Amino acid sequence: MKKIILTGDRPTGKLHIGHYIGSLKNRLLLQEKEDYDEFYIMIADAQALTDNFENPKKIKNSVIEVVLDYLSIGLDPNKVTIFIQSSISALCEMTYYYMNLVTLGRLLRNPTVKSELEIREFNNSIPSGFLNYPVSQAADITAFKANIIPVGDDQLPMIEQTNEIVRKFNNIYGNTLVECEALLPKTKVESRVPGIDGKAKMSKSLDNCIYLSDSKEEVKRKVMKMYTDPNHIKISDPGKIEGNMVFLYLDLFVNDYHFKKYLPEYKNIEELKKAYQKGGLGDVIIKKFLINVLEESFEGFRKRRKYYEDNIEEVYDILKKGTEKANQKANETLKEIRKAIGIDYFNESRLLGIMKDKYN
Ligand code: TRP
Repeated sequence: MKKIILTGDRPTGKLHIGHYIGSLKNRLLLQEKEDYDEFYIMIADAQALTDNFENPKKIKNSVIEVVLDYLSIGLDPNKVTIFIQSSISALCEMTYYYMNLVTLGRLLRNPTVKSELEIREFNNSIPSGFLNYPVSQAADITAFKANIIPVGDDQLPMIEQTNEIVRKFNNIYGNTLVECEALLPKTKVESRVPGIDGKAKMSKSLDNCIYLSDSKEEVKRKVMKMYTDPNHIKISDPGKIEGNMVFLYLDLFVNDYHFKKYLPEYKNIEELKKAYQKGGLGDVIIKKFLINVLEESFEGFRKRRKYYEDNIEEVYDILKKGTEKANQKANETLKEIRKAIGIDYFNESRLLGIMKDKYN
């Protein structure tokens, strides 16, 4: 069986290191492994509109931010197909047919949608487009016959719902669609990176993010005000590792090479943690170290971003080509779907044949 990877992001703002750890880093690894047949990355602007329909400008601007974020971290348009969801009209048509296969009750039971409805305080005025986005996500996935979907665990209900639609479709109309599987981050922390305040998941509304596009000064400023251990007042006090954001981020980014280069007094993260717990190691030292560690990645991001900003037409071409390729694939699948349902009336004059059978 072909290995087809598809994943995507809602463009509602710049991407941050929560996105990087939770999904982007893994996409880079998959890209380099090259053991797939096709690899699609979708900028899900139509889905983003389901709860931002009054603010299309924000979504449009974020499409540009997100594609620059992708390219600046090193996603390679020769290996992955980056495309814009709203330009793939076949997805709308598929969604329309799939909606017949899903009950309202089932949509209301989707745990992720349920919690999103609460957060957004839609109460009794739920836009039907929003409630339906899992169905449209099933179209996103099945249009490409994708079977490997790298996502965070909050997306598991979408994968489940997609597979229910696939099974129901295949049962009723004949084997056409392909079931898929989620590819989850390895650890809990990776799927829910806390913000620099240590309070909750990194999120724009909480203003606790380090963005992939942050300047050196911004990264520095944010790390310097990072939440550590409020009881670690004097340097000689023993410090706590749990809940300490500097150590949490170090765990996500550091390797032994970083120690050799920036903090040779310690061999590895275990030694550093022991010293901190014992007392005698100040926050400024570990924060400066974290800044250096982050900069090892961020310098590369900035260099690539600068290249693409200076060659913005190249970015446009990448999106245009990617979207063309995605359209081709989705249209092929749509053709199969129409045929399976039996509504491909004008394909090879099928309708004429039926008419003639009946009246000739
Ligand atoms: N719902 C996903 C998110 O919020 C984005 C998304 C849209 C997606 N369509 C998809 C992810 C298809 C994987 C596959 O992050």
